[in-house]
Amino acid sequence: MSARSPHVGAPRDEVHRSEAPKGSDQTVPMSANTPLRAGVVGLGWAGQQHMAGYHDLPDVELVALAGMEEHLLSELGERYSVPGRYTSLEAMLAEANLDVLSIATPTALHAPMAIAALGAGVHVLCEKPMAPTAADAERMAEAAQAADRALEITFNKRHRAPARTLHRLVTDGVLGRVYYAKAGWVRRKGIPGLGTWFTRKDSAGGGPMMDIGIHALDLALHVLGEPGVRTVSASTYAEFGPRGLGGGSYGVGARTAGDATVYEVEDLGTALLRLDNDATLMLEASWAQFVDHDRFYLELFGTEGGARIEVEGPDAPQIHVTTDVDGIPANLVPDMLPDAGHEANVADFVELVRSGSDAARGQVGLLRTHVIDACYSSAEQGCEVTL
Ligand SMILES: NC(=O)c1ccc[n+]([C@@H]2O[C@H](COP(=O)([O-])OP(=O)(O)OC[C@H]3O[C@@H](n4cnc5c(N)ncnc54)[C@H](O)[C@@H]3O)[C@@H](O)[C@H]2O)c1
Repeated sequence: MSARSPHVGAPRDEVHRSEAPKGSDQTVPMSANTPLRAGVVGLGWAGQQHMAGYHDLPDVELVALAGMEEHLLSELGERYSVPGRYTSLEAMLAEANLDVLSIATPTALHAPMAIAALGAGVHVLCEKPMAPTAADAERMAEAAQAADRALEITFNKRHRAPARTLHRLVTDGVLGRVYYAKAGWVRRKGIPGLGTWFTRKDSAGGGPMMDIGIHALDLALHVLGEPGVRTVSASTYAEFGPRGLGGGSYGVGARTAGDATVYEVEDLGTALLRLDNDATLMLEASWAQFVDHDRFYLELFGTEGGARIEVEGPDAPQIHVTTDVDGIPANLVPDMLPDAGHEANVADFVELVRSGSDAARGQVGLLRTHVIDACYSSAEQGCEVTL
């Protein structure tokens, strides 16, 4: 670790930037018990999950919030007893002396905000998707590397009970070698705020493939042990949004209403991914589709068994394992590990920052963003794309 990269909660002979004079690289010793100063930018549902996560941790002080809704700033500021309330990230970075920052703003702001915070010496936990394009995500990862600060992306669905349980079963080899997987998040009517930033290409980067397909992709790759993705063949469709249809309860009321006639992204994305362990992953994500019910699922098929989990939707949470027991076909329903969500991401991130590890420089989010980028390229070109 360089002299410019102290970590919070480090041993006494380590150093801590929040005790250094503002605007200087100079560092001074800190106590192992120094609370970590946290800020959150973005006051919507996602930002509020980060606030609750920091608030619950004993060794963290949530000292600053930033966002554009004055009423939320005061409501959430009161709820979490946060002294610093800002309407811009710039003001928060200049005044709040942060150690860590969570970014939960519209996706196109992730890169400029993360790069600004990392440049100011702040560790960053950023909401998924990392960025609208792989080029932006690359710039974020480079900034983390250059600043020697942690950059993690929030893939909270990994912590859900069925996901954790399936991860354990696959890691322990219960399914044997998994050679085929299907992952998806499909919704009957779930476009998040027609006409808001979510349905505009420049602010969201894409539609459901970018928004919720990335959760399904992350979950599949995580559970499968991080195989690389070799090729992608994808298609996208926009059949509901452009007709002003497919809006549901997602995000309604939380964001500024937009012009519902503006719909610039897909409402269904499908993809076939060839993985570098020769396995196949089928991926689908929709905000609006004639499915009989909403569903976020992962299905795996291995040499010794298969499994299906339901992570979101009316059938969730569920896990089923199909195998042979002494040669007899058996359908098993394992007990699930405990459920968790954003609070686990926040706690893991805080632990990582305190550990001083340089393991998180945005690499996982970057890999996911490259795959989603390749999906859009493949759909646009109408052919398979090699990563
Ligand atoms: N991990 C998850 O399960 C999950 C769930 C929902 C959203 N998200 C992600 O979180 C991010 C935010 O989504 P949301 O649904 O909370 O959005 P939202 O629209 O409800 O909230 C966005 C917030 O960003 C603030 N903001 C916008 N521009 C700003 C600026 N220039 N400076 C300061 N603040 C600014 C707004 O004031 C608002 O408070 C998105 O990237 C989304 O994909 C993740």
